[in-house]
Amino acid sequence: MPKKKLTVVGAGNVGASVAAYASAQELGDIVLVDILDGVPQGKGLDLYEATPVLGVDTKVTGTNNYEDTVNSDVIIITAGIARKPGMSRDDLLSTNVRIVGEVAEKAAKYSPNAILIVVSNPLDAMVYTAWKKTGFDPRKILGMAGVLDTARFRSFIAQEIGVSVEDIHALVLGGHGDTMVPLTRYCFVGGVPIDRFISPERLEEIVQRTRQGGAEIVGLLKTGSAYYAPASSAVQMARSILFDKKRLLPVAAYLNGEYGEKGIFVGVPAILGESGVEKVVEVELTPDEMSGFKKSAQAVKELVKEIDRFL
Ligand code: APR
Repeated sequence: MPKKKLTVVGAGNVGASVAAYASAQELGDIVLVDILDGVPQGKGLDLYEATPVLGVDTKVTGTNNYEDTVNSDVIIITAGIARKPGMSRDDLLSTNVRIVGEVAEKAAKYSPNAILIVVSNPLDAMVYTAWKKTGFDPRKILGMAGVLDTARFRSFIAQEIGVSVEDIHALVLGGHGDTMVPLTRYCFVGGVPIDRFISPERLEEIVQRTRQGGAEIVGLLKTGSAYYAPASSAVQMARSILFDKKRLLPVAAYLNGEYGEKGIFVGVPAILGESGVEKVVEVELTPDEMSGFKKSAQAVKELVKEIDRFL
């Protein structure tokens, strides 16, 4: 199999961690891109120098030039800024729309056949921006949120009941964080329903902690937000695409009638393979779950309306 090429835009905390995990898992050659002079080059070289120790044949390089990203198979976008004190939500949104729009457009120009995975926040809005700016087939663009939310949920459950994280399966729908819709009915521990292990009250507390998972890390770090778990989640998605593994993962995918929605990207379970989102999987929802999902979709639609003003 010819070697794959992965571009990571944004060489900050998330981007560099994506490159580190992707290199350690030998996903392919990796190009880190950033506007900062020397930072992507330095981190790229540092990561390359780790490869003999890790025993992987991945070339990792850093650049400020999109020509170096030519013919990438997957592009992961982590560029953006965090909200600063005094900055309005609108200012943050317009700045990140500009950044993500610009980087998506530039990267797409050199890799017209790539699959784009967006990580920058606000997630559902940034995926939409990347789609509008590239004009790619929407099945070739997806966002990372659900894998991270379920990873947090799975790790808390594993800790609670003392079973390997590997054996906890969970599913979430909808937006990232606050508006996520956890489907606890679809949560299993080695095939056994979760209610065999945890009371509904305790499970609800764990769901709440998961919703606040991003804020919990920000509260501890004080400067900056989570990056290890977000990066490993994006890498899991990239791996399924690059190796055509057909993993069924919760991702922000384009809906074309599924779950009664059209024209937006929102969190749903989907099969990821070499052509991107190969199928959105529809699961049966209770009225409560459906109303949670609709609320999430409505929030995304309102955000999208705002973005259309900036595009
Ligand atoms: N082109 C390329 N890179 C850019 C651009 C641009 N136009 N604008 C900003 N960047 C880079 C910054 O130089 C910085 O290196 O994006 C990087 C962002 O890194 P961090 O500030 O460390 O942020 P990080 O924690 O990595 O988060 C990135 O991922 O999870 C989301 O909410 C998070 O939106 C945020 C994104």
